[in-house]
Amino acid sequence: MSTPLYAPIDLQRLPRHVAIIMDGNGRWAQQHKLKIALGHRAGTEALRDIIRNSSDLGIGALTLYAFSTENWTRSLAEVEALMQLILDFFHSEIDELHEKNVRITILGDKDGLPEKQRDALMEAERRTLANTGLRLNIAINYGSRAELARAARLLAQDVQNGLLQPGEITEERLSQRLYTAGLPDVDLLIRTSGEMRLSNFLLWQCSYAEFVFPTVLWPDFDLKQYHACIAEFQSRKRRFGRRPTDDE
Ligand code: FPP
Repeated sequence: MSTPLYAPIDLQRLPRHVAIIMDGNGRWAQQHKLKIALGHRAGTEALRDIIRNSSDLGIGALTLYAFSTENWTRSLAEVEALMQLILDFFHSEIDELHEKNVRITILGDKDGLPEKQRDALMEAERRTLANTGLRLNIAINYGSRAELARAARLLAQDVQNGLLQPGEITEERLSQRLYTAGLPDVDLLIRTSGEMRLSNFLLWQCSYAEFVFPTVLWPDFDLKQYHACIAEFQSRKRRFGRRPTDDE
């Protein structure tokens, strides 16, 4: 692997699943006296490097929060700018990501998206379906509570159709109805800009995640910052509810 390491990372103990809340584009734009759309554009540049590097490092899964179900309440101009960036991103990146053996999955309600965006996302999923490298999940029109309610509906349908007894509803079966079915739980959750909230992101999947909150605004989040977050994750003692043993 040609990518240099900017922090002491043990490549044998990488997080299997990294999730990122890319926060701070608006404040970055304000700081630079730019329109908000340019903050999101700069944020998209940061995201390209993080995706490429995750693939090069050998991270199993990377999940990015691009647009939440609550983001529709922002101004029309901002929503349109984000939708255009999402479209441009898929058009410009898909060939390289496919070449890198990246498999793309969209988390969220694609039916609620404009047709052009929906078509591009579905095409990216279809084209990369058989890829075996990095699992790149992009959460768009996503909310974790909506995801859980959807999983409950799917289970209820199975019960109604006689495929399942209520007593057979287990954590495993519920997990299999989430958008992240088949993926490991999140090991490392990063939220930039110093905010320390989950904001309706992967509530179930983050049950045992380690949280890292770098203060840098998302457009300034670079590989140095990313590797520092991974090193921080590797320094944590994870117990999963167990009592620490003597050697911990
Ligand atoms: C939060 O910053 C960021 C978002 C709501 C959007 C994140 C989207 C991108 C980085 C680019 C588009 C995504 C793809 C996949 C191409 P904020 O605007 O809430 O920042 P603020 O809290 O400083 O206002």
